[in-house]
Amino acid sequence: MIVTIDGPAGAGKSSAARLLARRLGFDFLDTGAMYRAVTLQGLRCNCNFTNETDLAKLLADVRLELPGDRVLLNDEDISALIRTPEITAASGPVASSKVVRTKLVEWQRQIADGRDIVCEGRDQGTIAFPRAECKFFLFADPVERARRRHRELEANGQTISFAEVLQAQQARDTRDAARDIAPMVAAVDAIKLDSTQYTLDEVVDKMERIVRERIPRCEPTSDGRTPSRSRVQL
Ligand code: C5P
Repeated sequence: MIVTIDGPAGAGKSSAARLLARRLGFDFLDTGAMYRAVTLQGLRCNCNFTNETDLAKLLADVRLELPGDRVLLNDEDISALIRTPEITAASGPVASSKVVRTKLVEWQRQIADGRDIVCEGRDQGTIAFPRAECKFFLFADPVERARRRHRELEANGQTISFAEVLQAQQARDTRDAARDIAPMVAAVDAIKLDSTQYTLDEVVDKMERIVRERIPRCEPTSDGRTPSRSRVQL
């Protein structure tokens, strides 16, 4: 079974997707991490992000693995390196590239094949998995999203003002929603959830209820977990 969670940055998608997957006993796929990893590799190789041929060459040398919460790029653990404001800013043109999106969506489908999985991103319910059994679009008030992101960055030891975070977020929202390929929109059959007033647990409670209602075989076992088909690490 595939569950998709799309929405803007800072709405709590990653945390919600991770927790929902854990509660259901599903795997979890952070597709933003894939775009970030390609961006990091491109910056290292001085790739011209506006040139599709260069990007295609870049992708040929990229091997991604996503075991647990880690991101491995050609066997190197880059989990922390891809969470910087620089990578966030540079990921825009990479995420707008047709050749990159085509390849990453192909990898996402390969990863999800035969698994019970929660996939999180911008285009999971619209492009990557249009036939997903359960789709969510998670959003929140922009100021609240920026507050959360600011707290997160500070907790990670990064020095950045709230105003800068808000401005970068607005730029990213506009960019994600306005791009020609796979713009960030809710799938017509997605359930829209506003997380502004809710805690992570409350959001995930709601999602979990909906997923379990839709798929009768997702009844929890005696230990509270739902049996998952997939046993292989991502
Ligand atoms: O979600 P996250 O902030 O990690 O995403 C990193 C970058 O990848 C952003 O620029 C976002 O727009 C892009 N992205 C995307 N499609 C996805 C996931 C992320 O375009 N499915």
